[in-house]
Amino acid sequence: MTPREAAVRNHESTDGHAIASPEGLSSAAASAASAPSASIAPPATHAASSARVDLVFQPSGTRVRVPPGVTLFDAASWNGIAIDSTCGGHGTCKKCKIRVAGGSVPASPLDARAFSPDELRAGWRLACRAQAASDLQIEVPPLVTRPKAATVGVGRQVILRPAAQKRYLELDEPSLSDQRSDLERVLGALDDLELRVDLGVLRSIGSVLRAADYRVTAVVVDDVLIDVQPGDTSARLYGIAFDLGTTTVVATLLDLSTGTPLAVASMLNKQQPFGADVITRISAIMMEPGAIDTLARLARETLAELTADVCEQAGVDPREVCEVAVAGNATMTHIALGIDPEPLGVAPFIMAARQLPEVRAADLDLPAHPRARAFVFPAFGAYVGGDITAGLLASGMDRDSRTRLFVDIGTNCEIVLGNRDWLLATAAPAGPAFEGAAIRCGMRAADGAIEVVSMTPDGLDLRVIGDAAPAGLCGSGLVDAVAGLVGVGLLDRSGRFVPEQDAAALAPGLAGRLTTLGAERVFVLHWLGEPGDVTRSIYLSQRDVRELQFAKAAIATGWNVLLAEAGLAPGDVQQVLLAGSFGSYLSPASAIRLGLVPRLPVLRVVSAGNVAGEGAKMALLSVRERAGALALQEEVRYVELSDRSDFNDAFVEQLQFPA
Ligand code: FES
Repeated sequence: MTPREAAVRNHESTDGHAIASPEGLSSAAASAASAPSASIAPPATHAASSARVDLVFQPSGTRVRVPPGVTLFDAASWNGIAIDSTCGGHGTCKKCKIRVAGGSVPASPLDARAFSPDELRAGWRLACRAQAASDLQIEVPPLVTRPKAATVGVGRQVILRPAAQKRYLELDEPSLSDQRSDLERVLGALDDLELRVDLGVLRSIGSVLRAADYRVTAVVVDDVLIDVQPGDTSARLYGIAFDLGTTTVVATLLDLSTGTPLAVASMLNKQQPFGADVITRISAIMMEPGAIDTLARLARETLAELTADVCEQAGVDPREVCEVAVAGNATMTHIALGIDPEPLGVAPFIMAARQLPEVRAADLDLPAHPRARAFVFPAFGAYVGGDITAGLLASGMDRDSRTRLFVDIGTNCEIVLGNRDWLLATAAPAGPAFEGAAIRCGMRAADGAIEVVSMTPDGLDLRVIGDAAPAGLCGSGLVDAVAGLVGVGLLDRSGRFVPEQDAAALAPGLAGRLTTLGAERVFVLHWLGEPGDVTRSIYLSQRDVRELQFAKAAIATGWNVLLAEAGLAPGDVQQVLLAGSFGSYLSPASAIRLGLVPRLPVLRVVSAGNVAGEGAKMALLSVRERAGALALQEEVRYVELSDRSDFNDAFVEQLQFPA
């Protein structure tokens, strides 16, 4: 059994539903984006998959292979075959009619209500109830309604099937001959679902039913009835996707019934005063009794303020938010939930739990519905967290035949290599260079930061963030500047500035900028005062170049180790995804020039954007995608760099810039 199948089975066994991981999903968009190239052979440690059933969908003739137990609805939607549906596979619309023309599928109880005996004998079934246990031929009628779908992630199209759903119910009033309890009455109208009930629902169910003349809306998240509301509120179904970053936190309010983002807000994580990165935050907790409570409160305040902000923007009462998803690194999610992160900061770097037990929005002090659920992305390891799980989900790496390299560059750089058959992950300590810290004229990517540097031997151009004069150099500008200097020859491969007498010949328009400040050689990017006054300039020092070399060497060592584990060469990588807030702004050409990523045609290196936030949205919009995120836990093999004997040699080798 492959890890994915095991995860599917686990999922089935815990909730009784066949919520399979979406192997082979290739939405129209994703298929279009995927070159039909052969996948590279997996490393020996990752055996190819075993049990599968063959499904052929007509009239398209599309053949797909899925693990047994997957519903025909899921198998079709993962492979871009549209089947009629307005409930997204919840088994309530009875529109997902297909005919099993070859092979057999037993009729489900719902089929008996949807089809006549003759139709059942002819093979008609509801696709979302029909599980594929053997090879099948399936006829799909033309669409009457379009299944609701949303495009999220890196060109991924997700069929809407949120864990949160609302059902409007018109119930019979109780009588002496019908003495079912209020709860039995509501659950009886939801008999296609096996529900647990939150105690809080019972506190108000009696008054709500009677005041609303038994016309009510049931609010269900996963398998829990979280509310019974008066009247028909079914059109108002909301969730919030959080990207809980160490520096910045982003919230997106989603209309879960349409997949539409209604409002987005971001703010700096209020834990900032405790340090810029996860290590300084953990240190604060280790050194100061009670700091965990303060940091937890600050994280929750950040999330709560963003909740209020996005809801106000969209005119939504925060208590209408019935589910949230949180993608964050392991330290951030530990702290936000009040879990001591200290063991994450010291070897052997152990998490309290990879996968968290059931969490409520109230556990994060969110002003959402009091019984709203929270899905917190599981982490692969202390330094490859839930934000990377979400990012992989959004980028679809586990469904793509191409071998791709996912690089999320930051103080801690997370790297994942692989394709739909195998995935390897590692974390490389890149240090603070990309954040602008430890760089003499460095600054965050804020107004006034030089974010783009274009250089030729005759001169340079700068692009500055905001309508502001240059005030410093942020990470992307730093990478551009060093790549430019290597490109024109003012920096040699070892990262040393060339002698001044050589500079004029190599780059006549730039040589005047190569000078000294005290004993150190510097290259001036922008004169703030008189040209020649280095003390009033934005410059790049020899030490800054060294900082970037260390960061670059750590990252390049990371992906080289993964390539070696997989038995692949850099040229075997078919696409590089630059993820995270920094990666999204990084120039692919500069990243290649410096050797931050493998030397590939520049079009094969793409910015993936805020994939963690996109993954969080996907988890809210589709239980299938969420199951896929959980299945990733079993599919990704973590490779620890720090205990490798070859790490130091590889690191030293990678300090050089490519020829
Ligand atoms: S998809 Fe709605 S009943 Fe099957």
